[in-house]
Amino acid sequence: MDIIQLKLNSRNLGHYFLRMTKEEASAEIELLSRELNEHNYRYYVLADPAISDYDFDKLLEKLIALEKQFPELQKPDSPSQRVGGTITKEFATVTHKYPMLSLGNTYSEDELIDFDSRVAKGLEGEKFQYVCELKYDGVAIGITYRNGVLVQAVTRGDGVRGDDVTANVKTIRTIPLKLRGHDYPKEFEIRGEIFMRRETFNAINSERLDAGEPPLANPRNAAAGTLKMQDSSVVAKRNLDCFLYFIYSEDAIERDHYHSILKVKEWGFKTPDHIRLCDDLGQVLEFIHDWEKNRSALAYDIDGIVLKVNAYSQQKALGFTAKSPRWAIAYKYKAEQVTTVLESISFQVGRTGAITPVANLKPVLLAGTTVKRASLHNSDIIEKLDVRIGDHVFVEKGGEIIPKIIGVDTSKRDMFSEPFKYIEHCPECGTKLVRQEGEALHYCPNDATCPPQIKGKFEHFIGRRAMDIDSIGAETIELLYNHGLIKNVADLYSLELDDLLPLDRMAKKSAGNIIDGITASRQRPFERVLFGLGIRHVGETVAKKLAYYFKDVDRLMSASTEELLQVPEIGEKIAISIRDYFSRPENLEMIQRLKDKGLQLFLAEDVMAGFSDKLGGKTFVVSGTFSFFSRDDLKKAIELNGGKVTGSVSAKTDYLVAGENMGPAKLEKAEKLGVKIISEEQFRQMIA
Ligand code: IVH
Repeated sequence: MDIIQLKLNSRNLGHYFLRMTKEEASAEIELLSRELNEHNYRYYVLADPAISDYDFDKLLEKLIALEKQFPELQKPDSPSQRVGGTITKEFATVTHKYPMLSLGNTYSEDELIDFDSRVAKGLEGEKFQYVCELKYDGVAIGITYRNGVLVQAVTRGDGVRGDDVTANVKTIRTIPLKLRGHDYPKEFEIRGEIFMRRETFNAINSERLDAGEPPLANPRNAAAGTLKMQDSSVVAKRNLDCFLYFIYSEDAIERDHYHSILKVKEWGFKTPDHIRLCDDLGQVLEFIHDWEKNRSALAYDIDGIVLKVNAYSQQKALGFTAKSPRWAIAYKYKAEQVTTVLESISFQVGRTGAITPVANLKPVLLAGTTVKRASLHNSDIIEKLDVRIGDHVFVEKGGEIIPKIIGVDTSKRDMFSEPFKYIEHCPECGTKLVRQEGEALHYCPNDATCPPQIKGKFEHFIGRRAMDIDSIGAETIELLYNHGLIKNVADLYSLELDDLLPLDRMAKKSAGNIIDGITASRQRPFERVLFGLGIRHVGETVAKKLAYYFKDVDRLMSASTEELLQVPEIGEKIAISIRDYFSRPENLEMIQRLKDKGLQLFLAEDVMAGFSDKLGGKTFVVSGTFSFFSRDDLKKAIELNGGKVTGSVSAKTDYLVAGENMGPAKLEKAEKLGVKIISEEQFRQMIA
């Protein structure tokens, strides 16, 4: 579609469609969907956007609003599916139409030469070409399209059967929901690799660390975990990506793999971005060596390259073994590895009391840097590796920045060495460590006086994303703490100029800046104060959810575990941690002092203007589909107006909001228990 026309359309769409007939709405939905698909393709596949993110979001909002008004017009390939919202309790098992084979792989160039000879022999002297592609380090996916529309996406599973993850895959913006052009087969399956870019991975991990949670191991695990999440709206926020590199179809497409890749790109797929057609193995080896050198510059991890015989007729002639094609092979890059001696294991204590073991190594050169330390993650890993002080260990540096110990050379082990005994007491304060069921890490429970926990809590509190007090740094915290001026974060707000001036190297100007910075931080909104408290498992997003749900700290403090579980995205682990935090008198006393000092421990008035207490204390169950609200929005409206939403009808339910096609069992139960059954319209009157 012409871009000038697209821009005009985007500007001309106002809110006039609120009074549209169904026919008008249908035409508008069609137009908006076409525009959004076009912009999506330009942005994600061609990397050449025609409108700003803001304008894109506005168009999408319009489409969502219109589909909400006319739910019967929402199509399964609508661009609105990108934001997710489907909850999958259990993924259905699907049998692959074409088994999902893997590739033979090798780490050695000699074996590649053998492979090349086998191919040449199999083709009986015929000339052939290879296509070289990067081997993306992610999760394999097979996606079926019917009449140009995405209908199903299935994981590899055991190669024969996989999980149906369609709702989650639909949120990945580089995967088209509807194809471009017309020359695609009526039905086909396309295979590819879903992955997470390093930048996204690092952002997720820094959020996890902020919430006191252990980081995810690598982008591949993060992609795999995300793809199996139950709430597709969370998947939508995780920014997965996908390269598609193989097509299965009953109808002929092109004569060879290379041209098929060019063709499927025209239909809107993101195809391998570094691809080379090679006439001989020499060119293949050049490709391999180039990417071995340059792979760290890519935005995502690769673990090798894949070479495929190009012509389909030749692929057919070569055929398959039981496990993999004879016409393709993966050459895997070796993770660089060295051996060195484990000199000692030390333990770091984090802000939440989490203990992380660190290996201290005899310094050794690895992938261009001297390595002295490696992460050992937790006591289970130490036990599994059976790593002992004095052992010769194998150290590897993969895609991750921190090297890891991957094994022990037991042939060099001292015969008198003993298994490593994990510490039982905090190395900083001597308190006995605890390890909760289901958790991998040990914790020091002494958050009141354990020094690294206290310092860590201060650093977190003053951090940019919490109270943002940039006139204070880690050294000032240490200075103030060592002089007994601060014991918990509330003490910051009692500091005066005269407390600071006598301190070492404290100039009048910096003392003034410190006090000003602390004073200004009183204006930070509730959700940031809540995040700043550093409650375990309460990261930025959870803090926001809690702040909007409970609106002030008193309601949050008195919430039971059950009430906490009502908050969207809050599970048992978080609820228990919050209850634990607010059950401790020292925390309650600190919060009282923060309140007295004028911090924002409630939502500001302008934010509150969007809320009411019209449904205060009332419990609702929502069932069926609605015409004005989506089900999620209806639940949000209940919560914004002070009500509670639960999943099933019980004696405690006040109202059942009944939509179309609601479950008969719910209705029957509500009638039996005398629960009031109201329509969407009656609900709207309640909050009007
Ligand atoms: S082709 C029948 N191409 O690596 C051939 N696979 O170890 C299908 N992979 O199962 C695979 N990048 O999950 C192919 N450019 C690429 C790939 C690739 C990553 C994965 C894929 C495959 C596994 C084999």
